[in-house]
Amino acid sequence: MTKISPSMLSADAARLGEGLARLEACGADWAHIDVMDGVFVPNITIGQHVVRSLRPLSDLPFDVHLMIVNPLKHVPDFLDAGSDLITVHVETTENLEDSLAAIRDGGAKAGASINPGTPLDAVLPYLEMLDLLLVMTVQPGFGGQAFQPHCLEKISHARRVIEERSLEVEISVDGGINRDTGRRCVEAGATVLAAGSALFGAEDMAAEIELWRGFGGREGA
Ligand code: DX5
Ligand code: ZN
Repeated sequence: MTKISPSMLSADAARLGEGLARLEACGADWAHIDVMDGVFVPNITIGQHVVRSLRPLSDLPFDVHLMIVNPLKHVPDFLDAGSDLITVHVETTENLEDSLAAIRDGGAKAGASINPGTPLDAVLPYLEMLDLLLVMTVQPGFGGQAFQPHCLEKISHARRVIEERSLEVEISVDGGINRDTGRRCVEAGATVLAAGSALFGAEDMAAEIELWRGFGGREGA
């Protein structure tokens, strides 16, 4: 079954707790939390303090997407705040291995993300250290952008490599995901769909999540 990780970026920022309760009530598998620093990406969103405040409000795994420079410096704070999965960008760090090790040593699952312009090769040497590969399907920084279809090839290539190496790595996609692009990503090999606008803007979020979860993926998924 495809996992659905609605992005809190599309929730009302003044009522994040209610947004979290809504996506949980609608059957989400994870809550995707976008952390932006205004340096790696132009926008600034939320930090560890908010993650910590949200933690007691939900039983859902927190899928924390760090779009920040020097993630290694902040990983301990996000672990302590209650993150279950922490994803760092390969573009932000020269010590990717240290960041991934710190995440796993802290008891969370480790993810690495690549921007639309970053080749898959940049992350392939680290696949063995990953629980999740996040293929960005828009340039990170803002919700509501259009899906970049050239990223589909990276998803299918990543899926092939993961299977060749007999690894258990989730492939998540993030940016411009809706019922059409989401289906195409799952068919290419994605196992997690992260989405803001299309889920929070849906007439019936629960029905939308149910629909997406049923997209036919790879055998046994
Ligand atoms: C973008 C963020 C995404 C964002 C997706 O930089 O990483 O998680 O919330 O928003 P949509 O689904 O609206 O493209
Ligand atoms: Zn994200």
